[in-house]
Amino acid sequence: MKIEISGKGGCGKSTLSVLFARSMKKLGYRVLLVDGDESNIGLENLAGIARPVHLLDHLGGKKGFKEKLNQPMMVDNPAGIFSGKQKIDDLPEECIASSDGIELLVIGKIHDIGEGCACPMGVLSKKFLASIEPIDNEIILIDSEAGVEHFGRGIVGECDLIVGVVDPTAESFKLAEKMHNMAQNADKAICFVLNKVEPAIEEVMRNQLDGKKVIGVVPKDDTIFIESLEGRKLSKTLPEVDEICRKILMVSK
Ligand SMILES: Nc1ncnc2c1ncn2[C@@H]1O[C@H](COP(=O)(O)OP(=O)(O)OP(=O)(O)O)[C@@H](O)[C@H]1O
Ligand SMILES: [Mg+2]
Repeated sequence: MKIEISGKGGCGKSTLSVLFARSMKKLGYRVLLVDGDESNIGLENLAGIARPVHLLDHLGGKKGFKEKLNQPMMVDNPAGIFSGKQKIDDLPEECIASSDGIELLVIGKIHDIGEGCACPMGVLSKKFLASIEPIDNEIILIDSEAGVEHFGRGIVGECDLIVGVVDPTAESFKLAEKMHNMAQNADKAICFVLNKVEPAIEEVMRNQLDGKKVIGVVPKDDTIFIESLEGRKLSKTLPEVDEICRKILMVSK
């Protein structure tokens, strides 16, 4: 199953991606966490996983990747990212780092001033997700960049489920509405998780998401905030997250 975590900037996508990955692992799944955010670089810290070679860099950076794309036949990579289907075990070894049984793959990051647009990362994300085929007990969990960029690029089209993260801001509610409509128009499954929720505001948030599938609520948690602030590995497990993951995984059954 391929699951994309989406939502407004700062709503908690990366935090929940890590917590979901851990919970799904605990539930008996092999989890490949995919960093699909071309700007932010904090996911590996939150996950406590060493940085692997980025997939784009493995392919020769933007330049090398563009050249490969322009070749009519992928002679050097016939069963790879650009043609056919592949399994997690087929991925280049140097592009996977792991810790606590969770594997991490990073699509690519912006490195330099004036290096040009981030389109190659978007193209690579889409091609990667189109070609990767998880088997029964495997989950590909994609932490995306903020907003609906991955919708516009059609990257979410390659996923089986979109999980929209909604924090307590008007902007987040508006974006949830937009994501919901875009997903429905594309016949793509979408559900929502409320994050950073204090008891007094849960009802207000639920009312704002009226008519949308809300599968769980993650409380505002000081430990998560402090560990993230200090760039540390998240240590927390939350029963609410386990419950959400059970619901997500039911979809795949
Ligand atoms: N449940 C929570 N309780 C407390 N703080 C949280 C919670 N979830 C996320 N945060 C905090 O919110 C901030 C943003 O979290 P995170 O980086 O995961 O968001 P994001 O959606 O990935 O952001 P970006 O769009 O920049 O990638 C961090 O300071 C993080 O610690
Ligand atoms: Mg993030």
